Amino acid sequence: MSVADLGRVLVVVPTYNEAENLEPLLRRLRASVPEADALVVDDGSPDGTGDIADRMAAADGNVHVLHRSEKAGLGAAYVAGFRWALAEGYDVVVEMDADGSHAPEELPRLLTAMRDADLVIGSRWVPGGQVRNWPVHRLLLSRGASIYTRVLLRYPIKDATAGYRAYRRGVLEALKLDEVASTGYCFQIDLGWKTWRAGYRVVEVPITFTEREVGTSKMSRSIVTEALWRVAVWGLTSRSRGARARALAARN
Ligand code: GDD
Ligand code: MN
Repeated sequence: MSVADLGRVLVVVPTYNEAENLEPLLRRLRASVPEADALVVDDGSPDGTGDIADRMAAADGNVHVLHRSEKAGLGAAYVAGFRWALAEGYDVVVEMDADGSHAPEELPRLLTAMRDADLVIGSRWVPGGQVRNWPVHRLLLSRGASIYTRVLLRYPIKDATAGYRAYRRGVLEALKLDEVASTGYCFQIDLGWKTWRAGYRVVEVPITFTEREVGTSKMSRSIVTEALWRVAVWGLTSRSRGARARALAARN
């Protein structure tokens, strides 16, 4: 598939201890969308993922690496990757997990949808979307997070925490990346909601998410807790702001 009309595409891949997963993933990406560049954002993985990324970058000019000193969360890694992408002049920035859960073979479909969208979300929870090999508690957590978000933020996206997505450059320029405080997986809700609220076109396309076969998830209780309280705070502040605006409008 030609991605020429979208401009330059960068796939940002955050990694923490993905030594066995990174190389196969980058190879699949290369085969699926040869025009796309990749940026690995590694948080000093003790298992040597950063060295593997460096080796791949040395062999392939389309692979780049950003080394960060310590594990600072998925959100912080993506903010760093997005800044790099903007500075380097990319037009479309894709988020993709390193563990194979997000199939690079589905990326052409996301990029095709990007022609009529500013943010394309690879969704597990729209018709045609699915999850393979997740235990029941992860399925419930993911569905629960999207419903919680829909109720508190009135954000209609079915898969609010989805981590396979593509942003147009203009969106990332407009969102204030300096002010993004979310460090964990609620980063996905945070940026998606801001994008949607700013009036950009947000489109969900179905994907098949397959649980990793190698390594371990970095999902933790503190990631869930952060998402719960941040979404509640965003919901309350946006409602009180809305109420204040309505009161002011009624007075004038
Ligand atoms: N650099 C960096 N720093 N990378 C990280 C960090 C971090 O602190 N935490 C996680 N990652 C990387 C992992 O190495 C992997 O490539 C990707 O982020 C996703 O992490 P997983 O730990 O595999 O996430 P998951 O499979 O449990 O969760 C998936 O579903 C979530 C809920 O829908 C992901 O797709 C999440 O993005 C999504 O929010
Ligand atoms: Mn995973």
